[in-house]
Amino acid sequence: MESRNFSLPFLFVIFIASHFSFSSSKRILNDPYVFSSSPSLSSLNAESLINSFNLTPQYAVNVIQKGNPNAPRLFESQIDFRAMFGDQNASGGPSVQEFGHYAGYYSLPHSKSAKMFYFFFESRNNSADPVVIWLSGGPGCSSSIAMFYENGPFKISDDFSLSWNDFGWDKVSNLIYVDQPVGTGFSYTKDISDIRLDEAGVSNDLYDFLQAFFKEHPKFAKNDFFITGESYAGHYIPAFASRVHSGNKKKEGIQINLKGIAIGNGLTNPEIQYAAYGDYALQMKLITESDNEGIKQDYVECQNFIKKCNLGVALACASGFEVCNNIVTTITEKNKGINYYDVRKKCVGRLCYDFSKIETFLNKENVRKALGVGDIEFVSCSSTVYDAMTKDWMVNLEVKIPELVNDGISLLVYAGEYDLLCNWLGNSRWVEEMNWSGQKDFKAAKNVPLMVDNKEVGLLKSYGSLTFLKVHDAGHMVPMDQPKGSLLMLQYWMRGMLN
Ligand SMILES: *[C@@H]1O[C@H](CO)[C@@H](O)[C@H](O)[C@H]1NC(C)=O
Ligand SMILES: *[C@@H]1O[C@H](CO)[C@@H](O)[C@H](O)[C@H]1NC(C)=O
Ligand SMILES: *[C@@H]1O[C@H](CO)[C@@H](O)[C@H](O)[C@H]1NC(C)=O
Repeated sequence: MESRNFSLPFLFVIFIASHFSFSSSKRILNDPYVFSSSPSLSSLNAESLINSFNLTPQYAVNVIQKGNPNAPRLFESQIDFRAMFGDQNASGGPSVQEFGHYAGYYSLPHSKSAKMFYFFFESRNNSADPVVIWLSGGPGCSSSIAMFYENGPFKISDDFSLSWNDFGWDKVSNLIYVDQPVGTGFSYTKDISDIRLDEAGVSNDLYDFLQAFFKEHPKFAKNDFFITGESYAGHYIPAFASRVHSGNKKKEGIQINLKGIAIGNGLTNPEIQYAAYGDYALQMKLITESDNEGIKQDYVECQNFIKKCNLGVALACASGFEVCNNIVTTITEKNKGINYYDVRKKCVGRLCYDFSKIETFLNKENVRKALGVGDIEFVSCSSTVYDAMTKDWMVNLEVKIPELVNDGISLLVYAGEYDLLCNWLGNSRWVEEMNWSGQKDFKAAKNVPLMVDNKEVGLLKSYGSLTFLKVHDAGHMVPMDQPKGSLLMLQYWMRGMLN
């Protein structure tokens, strides 16, 4: 029988592996069962892929018999940078103690015992700045990875001190990072049944957290609020925003001043985005025309599963995950060693990026003490959380968005042009095809260059509440590759100046 490598991506980023072989390209797995004692195929893949970021979490998930069951619902404290570094501080600029930098745990009310970890950094400029929450993907990767390697206030120096990030998004916003879904990062539970399986679970937890957060910080509750994130957060963000919007409409709890959502290199509409892989790869000369014809044929089966999945057939969601990701493998197999987050680059061995400093740093005893996490281990990316979400992967989250944009909530979809996994082409297509009140005018709008320092950093298309930005010279992680451009993008967009 023909043997074919099989891949299951991790959208931390999306991960794609090619380490596991199968006897048939049409193999359909049984419903992946999250809690089986032997690791399932996808968790094996996830683990080998986590390694491609040079991450080596000690546990597959933070399900542990630790922590304080009597902890209050929300427990937050100022980050004690002295405990972290003694008397030295983050180099350059004023002492970090002068800023409001917090770390906290929130006990999720709709769970057996789950505690969600978060960072909160008050704006370096003005507390009246908008509140922005950032969500990393995976599913199952800690948002702290983006915090230290993309858009947070600090970078980790080689000597494991912290230095200011000149383009941290906290320069223009009050910035929150949460470790979610629960089980990843420093978030933990004692009960495996708290591990989330879908966007309903994810968005309810985030909504509960947000309510508690604004209760703790009433001073910020009236500020503009924006939801941002990357990669698999293309799923989380529409679900979370929609949950907030319906909570507001039903006058549940505190009214959240939701003004906009921004999705960076996201996976939002799988049916459209999986159809775009071949075309993007052809454009980038990664494959030939005839390769693309083959991929189009493979897509037929993939599309069938996606359609069925979105009609509610759970088994089709699992099958779609397997079958559709073969398309990505087909492309990467023809380009050995390519970095699929940035097709200009190569992965050296299994290493595509080196994010290992974050694990060393966050697992230092003095750092954990300063963050108030005690002896909880930092799980950079959880393969169990990833595994639990495989049936969520092919769900189309775009359907949540028209109501939001029709009601005036802005949507920014941006994509670094060299990312294969959540490529700009697929994102541009679903944005164009989305049925909303301004669709015709958006389609008719022209692309305009976006300039920073007299340099074109991207191509912008906008109408009403909808903006699409193709970012030049960037891969999957735009704020890492274009720090200044991405900070200005956020700032201008939040002020309504990208439309
Ligand atoms: C923090 O760093 C600045 C600049 O290096 C320095 O002037 C200041 O004294 C430091 N503050 C503390 C508390 O160490
Ligand atoms: C900083 O805040 C001031 C008002 O306090 C505002 O005028 C200025 O534009 C802000 N700077 C940035 C970079 O947002
Ligand atoms: C677009 O949405 C409107 C309003 O929900 C609906 O009436 C219409 O049938 C939709 N059009 C298409 C082509 O789906």
